[in-house]
Amino acid sequence: MKELLTNANRIQGEIVIPGDKSISHRSIMFAAIAHGTSKITGFLHAEDCISTMNIFRALGVQIDELEDGSVIVHGKGIEGLQAPSEALDAGNSGTTMRLLAGLFSGFPFKLKMIGDASLSKRPMNRVMIPLRQMGASISGSEGSEFAPLYIQPVDHLNAIEYDMPVASAQVKSSILLAGLTAKGTTIIHEKEKSRDHTERMLRQFGVNIEVDDKDISLEGGQTLTASDVKVPADISSAAFFIVAALLVKDSQLRMPNVGLNPTRAGIIEVLKNMGAFIETEYNETGLSADLTVQSSDLKGTEFGGDIIPTLIDEIPIIALAATQAEGTTIIRDAQELKVKETDRIQVTAQELNKMGANIIETEDGMIITGPTPLHAADVDSHGDHRIGMMLQIAALLVEEGTVNLADAEAVNISFPSFFDDLASIVD
Ligand code: S3P
Repeated sequence: MKELLTNANRIQGEIVIPGDKSISHRSIMFAAIAHGTSKITGFLHAEDCISTMNIFRALGVQIDELEDGSVIVHGKGIEGLQAPSEALDAGNSGTTMRLLAGLFSGFPFKLKMIGDASLSKRPMNRVMIPLRQMGASISGSEGSEFAPLYIQPVDHLNAIEYDMPVASAQVKSSILLAGLTAKGTTIIHEKEKSRDHTERMLRQFGVNIEVDDKDISLEGGQTLTASDVKVPADISSAAFFIVAALLVKDSQLRMPNVGLNPTRAGIIEVLKNMGAFIETEYNETGLSADLTVQSSDLKGTEFGGDIIPTLIDEIPIIALAATQAEGTTIIRDAQELKVKETDRIQVTAQELNKMGANIIETEDGMIITGPTPLHAADVDSHGDHRIGMMLQIAALLVEEGTVNLADAEAVNISFPSFFDDLASIVD
């Protein structure tokens, strides 16, 4: 149990948010399978990305972590990777397991991928079904769709044309990485536009990939060339600080260089619709911005449809903001939340309601009525990093008593310095 910070008077200052998790994973993966040496700056040194790094080390790739936090990857090309002597451990990371299932399906050696208890309950048919259509030999534990995953070498993979049944960057990326080693041109039609880091970064590493809104195509057999990557701050981590500064009175907080790729920026639009003061000063790439946030009076809102993939990881913290907003907030089309690190619809409602929130779970989202004062309670992250951080922001609003969080270490999955960083800006 960790005793959380409560009763915040105000939040002031500037905070440097750690690197984007999705981009950090991909920077290691693509640099490792590229030819030549790549330098990654702003890399997220957190458990999920370390899982990805250790997997490539187990495949024989030299990866140096420098004292200034940057990472040097000595890429070996896809054909230079070696068979590992043990099972590859993806830990808690769905991105690691799903993307690498695709990449490894075209490898000439057998592999086993394992994960922690949460990852071993997450659906893998969403990648195994299209990968098998490409000719992969991939199976789950004892005929199920769950990890451990077993991959056997096949003669070759064939490209497919695939209509995605879910909006998922992990599924899209898994198929694209399998497509790299497949014969022919892999074509994907997305249901809704999901985060496009794989497409942008493969292009940066020299891959010819065509994107026309939700249609993507990539020819097999292409090689990657080393490229330096500058990882921006993670909007999904910044989200906790944005909402903290909005909800705690007399606050003003600045966060430099936060990644605001349009496929990730839905939270800014939703919070602005709720009345939030958020200033965005974009840099020249148009993909990241310096953010300034001030305390704001919020009102309820409704959202669903194609904005959902652009804010999927931020819904628990948006739900917290909605508990403090005037009126009703309705979140729809977010059933994917049920298959994240936890069932985030159920866990968000359950834990915030313990503190006095009024959240009704629905099949595909939540109905939240506010504003409700939050009171002290013992709460639980259920091992989910984003739930743990959201509950700490909720605790800032509790005026009396103690809030204890079970399984607080879960924040190390994406944001190891979270509690210290927060303490440094809260009065
Ligand atoms: C991610 C994609 C999203 C997101 C996850 C990271 C990625 O998952 O929730 O945190 O890096 O591709 P889905 O693709 O399952 O929606």
